[in-house]
Amino acid sequence: MLVQLLGAAQSSNIQFNDNWKFQLALDSTGAFPSNNNWRTLQLPHDWSIEGDFSASHKTTFNQAALPAGIGWYQKDFIRTKEIINKEVFIYFDGVFCNSEVWVNDHFVGKRPNGYVGFEYDITPFLQDKNTIKVKVDNFLQPNSRYYTGSGIYRDVQLIIKDEVYVKASNIFFTTPQVSKQKAVVQLDVQVSNPKKNLYQIKFDIVDPSGKIISSTTTKLGQESKQKVKLPVASPQLWNTEHPNLYKAIVRTIVNGSVKDVVETKIGIRNFRFDDKNGFYLNDVPTKILGVCMHHDLGALGAAFNKSAAKRQLQLLKEMGCNAIRTAHNMPASAFLDLCDEMGFLVMDEAFDMWQKKKNKFDYSKDFAKWYQQDLEAMILRDRNHPSVFMWSIGNEIREQFDSSGIALTKNMVAIVKALDATRPVTSALTENILAKNFIAQSGALDLLGFNYKQYAYDSLPTRFVGKPLIATETASALETRGVYLLPADSNYVWPSDSKDTKPGNVDYTCSAYDNTYAYWGTTHENSWLSVKNRPFMSGLFVWSGFDFLGEPVPYAYPARSSYYGIIDLAGIPKDVYYMYQSEWTKKPVLHVLPHWNWKKGDMVDVWAYYNNADLVSLYLNGKLIGTSQKTPQKLHAAWKLPFEPGVLKVVSTLKGKVVLSKEVFTAGAPAKLQLSVNSRIIHPNSENLCFITAKLLDAKGNLVPIHDQKIDFMVEEGGTIIATDNGSPVSHESFNNTAINTLNGVCIAIVKPSKGANKVKIKASSSNIPDSKIEIIVQ
Ligand code: GAL
Repeated sequence: MLVQLLGAAQSSNIQFNDNWKFQLALDSTGAFPSNNNWRTLQLPHDWSIEGDFSASHKTTFNQAALPAGIGWYQKDFIRTKEIINKEVFIYFDGVFCNSEVWVNDHFVGKRPNGYVGFEYDITPFLQDKNTIKVKVDNFLQPNSRYYTGSGIYRDVQLIIKDEVYVKASNIFFTTPQVSKQKAVVQLDVQVSNPKKNLYQIKFDIVDPSGKIISSTTTKLGQESKQKVKLPVASPQLWNTEHPNLYKAIVRTIVNGSVKDVVETKIGIRNFRFDDKNGFYLNDVPTKILGVCMHHDLGALGAAFNKSAAKRQLQLLKEMGCNAIRTAHNMPASAFLDLCDEMGFLVMDEAFDMWQKKKNKFDYSKDFAKWYQQDLEAMILRDRNHPSVFMWSIGNEIREQFDSSGIALTKNMVAIVKALDATRPVTSALTENILAKNFIAQSGALDLLGFNYKQYAYDSLPTRFVGKPLIATETASALETRGVYLLPADSNYVWPSDSKDTKPGNVDYTCSAYDNTYAYWGTTHENSWLSVKNRPFMSGLFVWSGFDFLGEPVPYAYPARSSYYGIIDLAGIPKDVYYMYQSEWTKKPVLHVLPHWNWKKGDMVDVWAYYNNADLVSLYLNGKLIGTSQKTPQKLHAAWKLPFEPGVLKVVSTLKGKVVLSKEVFTAGAPAKLQLSVNSRIIHPNSENLCFITAKLLDAKGNLVPIHDQKIDFMVEEGGTIIATDNGSPVSHESFNNTAINTLNGVCIAIVKPSKGANKVKIKASSSNIPDSKIEIIVQ
């Protein structure tokens, strides 16, 4: 039957991020401040990142030595005609932590977990003029092993619904049949219909080009639960190279008029894990080439920004990464949208602890009361994302070591399966002996994830017979970008064991040769080789994709952010990025390290990461030093030679034919400043940011790699500098300054275009060198 659709839908989701007022509580009682010192701001907001680094913050260096505390937000709004006689919900995608919400002084709810998305029905409390107040209590510290941020650090929405409606969390799309010829998309929906109206559901599928390719309308009825199937002929499957997205549109219709429309991007794909041969995506054997990512965005703190997350994912994509583990908590919804659009598989992780704590005031204290609700909220929010391909119920959970782990695991897996039986459930484990691992003994996990201990991989198939396997964490190697510790052919294990109290260098650096790691980890090369060579290991998640705030192993304060990243906190790749790129992509790679500014006579190790070639030759000042190759155990070419100023040249060849060549010159004094931007054109959108990279160059255009000086950024037109960074894990320069020192010649500024600006002009200055400028078009 054809239904005539009248008028626009009566429902909508409104971004509710603007014009919030904020202030910190005046004391530890956390009472609502009676003064008028409110600051108006736009969410997402993280007040911790605005603070200064200090040893006195109770968060400790493990949370970046930044402040926490208690904050209050409030927002006034008027009941416009769009919300009169409607069902109105307020949705928070994440508030860290212990949020309490009042509408016109009616208490509507509390949510301890800082990562979960949650909503409240505020319909009964609305008046003509309204005030929403939110208390955020991150006072009791320490409550995390890594930086959390503080505040309403993700999006807020007002969700407006009419009479007969569908909540996004009550919609579930699955693809029970997928082949190249045909797919079936199934919609399971629960409709809210308090007045028991007669209604219909119209379900359309729109293909990636925007054409409606399949439609159906249900019979008139009152049933709240509906199951509808639609065929899709010759589906364009979703995969990591071609993340084809369809749009599923669900409308509720009463008396021929549309009451609600919910649009969801869906992907048609299937996958399976095999205990012997690993992972298959759409029947194609696919190694999971993943990285672990914490939720912070470096200098922006935890305040979610889609363009900043997109920049991270773009860098990872170019490296050949195809998967993300959201360590160790639920990500922002918009992060999953990006993964859907850009083609990343996501291991969506719920918790870093259950009942047994890792820090005195962490979520363990709320776990018993809240875990079911929080876990359910994660599944209901995220289960329609094609990128999400497994659920993790926890990271290195202490219950794996005693029998309480058995019942809890069974219970949590059952909670997940009741809401989504299409994806495997896993947990990132450390104990690889079955008799000692009670989470694994539960038998409830579909897939076993193991962190580190790559030396034991070969025993896993016999210890855990029939179980598919994945390396949920590898490496924990440590690097400071641009710092090279010689000799490179010996390894530095920092800390060397749990009793090593003073590991590392006096200047709090680590070496960017891949030769330094914590005792539970190993080098990037070794960890990748251990997975690469074992088909039963379906893939890996490297610890970590980017440096993150907090956990500065091997150091304590004044160090304040991690050394683990393949890419530094400012988004600048470290050398090992090119090891992964040479292994994980087919594009030609040749990358040489270190820089060529040493003292005469220094014995220097030169490494080259390369692919698509069978030999690499090294020349110093035109003289052949020697040739080198990768081996089955070593993923780089290597030479050792005494330093002489001049030019190093590496040339990769395949059967004698040149593939690529690269030169590194001994740099002179800084003579100019080079500015570049991640995109010369950006779209006007309140979220979009420009990332400007500044490099110190000598007169000939070489990066000056061992000299640092302050760079002053200024916006001449059309924007504001919202943060600067240089990727140093130990610098105490505030991210909020407009000037910053370079780290080994490089730093960045993050600029927000002004509303209505059509271009942004940025100037950078530094002593003894000419100013430099860059222009970005906003269109
Ligand atoms: C793991 C843990 C991660 C991180 C890492 C550092 O054990 O799961 O969160 O702490 O170690 O090496």
